[in-house]
Amino acid sequence: MGAKVLFFFAFLSISAVSAFAENEKDPGLAMDFYKDTCPQAEDIIREQVKLLYKRHKNTAFSWLRNIFHDCAVQSCDSSLLLDSTRRILSEKETDRSFGLRNFRYIETIKEAVERECPGVVSCADILVLSARDGIVSLGGPYIPLKTGRRDGRRSRADVVEEYLPDHNETISVVLDRFAAMGINTPGVVALLGAHSVGRTHCVKLVHRLYPEVDPALNPDHVPHMLHKCPDQIPDPKAVQYVRNDRGTPMVLDNNYYRNILDNKGLLIVDHQLAYDKRTKPYVKKMAKSQDYFFKEFARAITILSENNPLTGSKGEIRKQCNVANKLH
Ligand code: HEM
Ligand SMILES: *[C@@H]1O[C@H](CO)[C@@H](O)[C@H](O)[C@H]1NC(C)=O
Repeated sequence: MGAKVLFFFAFLSISAVSAFAENEKDPGLAMDFYKDTCPQAEDIIREQVKLLYKRHKNTAFSWLRNIFHDCAVQSCDSSLLLDSTRRILSEKETDRSFGLRNFRYIETIKEAVERECPGVVSCADILVLSARDGIVSLGGPYIPLKTGRRDGRRSRADVVEEYLPDHNETISVVLDRFAAMGINTPGVVALLGAHSVGRTHCVKLVHRLYPEVDPALNPDHVPHMLHKCPDQIPDPKAVQYVRNDRGTPMVLDNNYYRNILDNKGLLIVDHQLAYDKRTKPYVKKMAKSQDYFFKEFARAITILSENNPLTGSKGEIRKQCNVANKLH
């Protein structure tokens, strides 16, 4: 008796539910999906995102990073939010999730929604809408997004690395992975503009500083990086990091593109984006025009947010975002 047997029963029970609802049409995603069932849902989420942002500005970074880490791994199904169980590792605990934070505040938003409309609004939609509203808090564009996603029942930790590129991945692999979701080259360049906010921990940077400083780094930026990351092997207890954009660290703007053209990109992927001949023309265009960046960013976030969702009678509406409901 192992995980396989459990999955088999889970599978049986999911198929039973779907068969039951077979003659109800799957409406898919729609604008304002909750207009009849919970008309105030989007307002509650927006209000909570704003309140949280007032108290902890970095929550907005998390909402923005979450949409990538959830939606790019097979489906926008909020599998990212599940805690580990005795048998199954959570996505949150994998190496790619390093530095993800503020998960408890997703529960704050979920609880506020549950108080008004219990059991109606999915965590997958809360994750996507909090990203949408977080982007606005950070000075980015308002992006109208569809809702109607349902929550997955299990972690996808086992496949996370096949979907999320590593910090030092080649541009070819990065472009391929996003293309598989229908996101083209300017879309990828725009999405990486998210690295205009937030931070990167020293563990992801020390290989560019020690034993020798990466000659590709702007020498004017190196003393700051060495000051923030003084040890070749960072002390795991000390929270040591460098801000992604020293100029405007709290604002989602096109300064990221000027930084990477100036060799101040922190990650290898950021740096490569400004050098690869497929991506460089878009980097230059976005460095010049915030409008163009926002337009492409909004388009790419929309595609990302619609990646292979569970809809209709698939999945479930979780009661709490960090645990799947009990199978009945
Ligand atoms: C090739 C693709 C990408 C790679 C390899 C990558 C990698 C990383 C890494 C290593 C960090 C630092 C984490 C830490 O040390 O705490 C980071 C931070 C971040 N990433 Fe990405 N990322 C990618 C794409 C994206 C996309 C598409 C988005 C959103 C649309 C995004 C949003 C963010 C945000 C907002 C942060 C800052 C988080 C914070 O300060 O809490 N990233 N990313
Ligand atoms: C990328 O960095 C990781 C450590 O974070 C390392 O194990 C891996 O070998 C590196 N890959 C490449 C292609 O350099």
